Amino acid sequence: MHCKIIQMDQKFDILHEKLAEAKLGGGQARIDAQHKKGKLTARERIHFLLDEDSFEEIGALVTHRNHDFGMADQIVPGDGVVTGYGTIGGRLVYVFAQDFTVFGGSLSETHAEKICKIMDLAVRNGAPVIGLNDSGGARIQEGVNSLGGYADIFFRNVQSSGVVPQISAIMGPCAGGAVYSPAMTDFIVMVENTSYMFVTGPNVVKTVTNEEVSSEELGGASAHSTKSGVTHLVATNDMDCVEKVKRLLSYFPQNCEDKAPELPYTLGDEYRPELDHIVPESPNHPYDIKEVIAGIVDTGSFFEIQESYAENIVVGFARLAGRSIGIVANQPMCLAGVLDVNSSKKGARFVRFCDCFNIPLLVLEDVPGFLPGTDQEWNAIITNGAKLLYAFSEATVPRVTVITRKAYGGAYDVMNSKHIGADMNFAWPNAEIAVMGAKGASEIIFKKEIDAAPDPAAKLAEKEMEYAATFANPYRAAARGFIDEVIHPKETRRKLIKAFAMLEHKAVSRPKRKHGNIPL
Ligand code: HXC
Repeated sequence: MHCKIIQMDQKFDILHEKLAEAKLGGGQARIDAQHKKGKLTARERIHFLLDEDSFEEIGALVTHRNHDFGMADQIVPGDGVVTGYGTIGGRLVYVFAQDFTVFGGSLSETHAEKICKIMDLAVRNGAPVIGLNDSGGARIQEGVNSLGGYADIFFRNVQSSGVVPQISAIMGPCAGGAVYSPAMTDFIVMVENTSYMFVTGPNVVKTVTNEEVSSEELGGASAHSTKSGVTHLVATNDMDCVEKVKRLLSYFPQNCEDKAPELPYTLGDEYRPELDHIVPESPNHPYDIKEVIAGIVDTGSFFEIQESYAENIVVGFARLAGRSIGIVANQPMCLAGVLDVNSSKKGARFVRFCDCFNIPLLVLEDVPGFLPGTDQEWNAIITNGAKLLYAFSEATVPRVTVITRKAYGGAYDVMNSKHIGADMNFAWPNAEIAVMGAKGASEIIFKKEIDAAPDPAAKLAEKEMEYAATFANPYRAAARGFIDEVIHPKETRRKLIKAFAMLEHKAVSRPKRKHGNIPL
């Protein structure tokens, strides 16, 4: 009996030693090096991400199985990734954090198995997965085993897509095929100056194309937030990154069968007189749609996504009387709010996320049409514009539109019109719903009359007024029922709160099919 107790004590000693080793990762010197770069360690990141003391680690004692290239002598418990579950704001999440201090956070077969294990648990238990990425990519010593490990993760990214929210924080290098796992998750947050993402790094770029480019220029947070649109959010440092991940999650339900959390809200005076003074008198003067958004939603609740990419469309999450909504809004401050290739892609992806996770959609429309030109046509504005049209048309969440000014041409149809399934469509009294602007329309349909007039300019002005009086208003559309109500701007918040409450239990059944075929 005495002997057995001693044996047990020894086993506990070994366990504690191993756990201490796992917690130290690649050793104090490497932890110091990580801090010197301005980065937190994997465990520190998890600590700041999750509610205090909520983290439960899974697989801390897992080690790799590789005997090649002297790896048998290099065993670190945990194998370069910390995995487990915990809570954020009291809600369950699964998390993995790659540990750059262990083999550069590189992904071995067992490292991948640990990530797959928590992804499987997340789907089975209906909770989000957060990946904190900081890795040199496939573990070079493992060859195809590590490549297979990546593919196992990619496969799970796709199986989880639309089932539970998936968020990727990029907090260090992310290169090669490794970028495709974050790319298949719902949101990417990159940390400025310490993270980058690219398929091939600067050396390969130099060899193949002779271009000289730094890692930061090629795939840093700035490049991906402004040029490629790959990242949805940019964080100034690791702490800011975990805060942004937490804020993002606060708008989401736990899974596709859940509803987004509702904050308590007592209805009061919901009139917002300031909304009456935002749209300028002249239809050609810009205004900031974000002022309209701020005037409609709960104070300080708007969280913009892809802020610096395709700025002619604004997308983001907000709360309306405590309820989560997704907002898609044309931005007259940028390219007059026109729809182009990038804004269509940005809007479509956002709409599809909201639809996956039962987040109602509010559309604020002021759109003069699609951007003309060879650049747009040759970059497939047809296919890309169709993405936004398709995304709205297939969405079954409550959908409400407010036309704040222009709704011209095909863009009227695309921007959540009644015809493609919007539930409630409002317009402000100055709204212009027409095939095109009054000037362009008059120049075409009254061409002969204008040319024959003694004063063509005066004739054009007269015809423009006539056209505007007929079509550049919301009343034709309201008479047909395409607009449900013409409302004063100051009433917008009140109307929207009531409309979304009325639509709360919306249910739609679609014909049976495997899946649709969105024009990718
Ligand atoms: C094994 C790796 C590693 C890797 C880094 N390390 N990447 N070990 N496999 N992929 C190790 C280094 O040997 C080093 O170990 C430690 O991690 C830290 O790396 P450093 O180079 O000292 O750090 P740093 O200077 O910060 O540079 C980081 C780095 C660089 C830019 C990530 O390490 C690098 O370029 N790594 C290789 C990247 C790569 O080509 N990966 C494969 C991509 S292809 P010691 O013991 O010396 O400290 C890929 C395919 C995926 O991922 C396919 C999916 C379809």
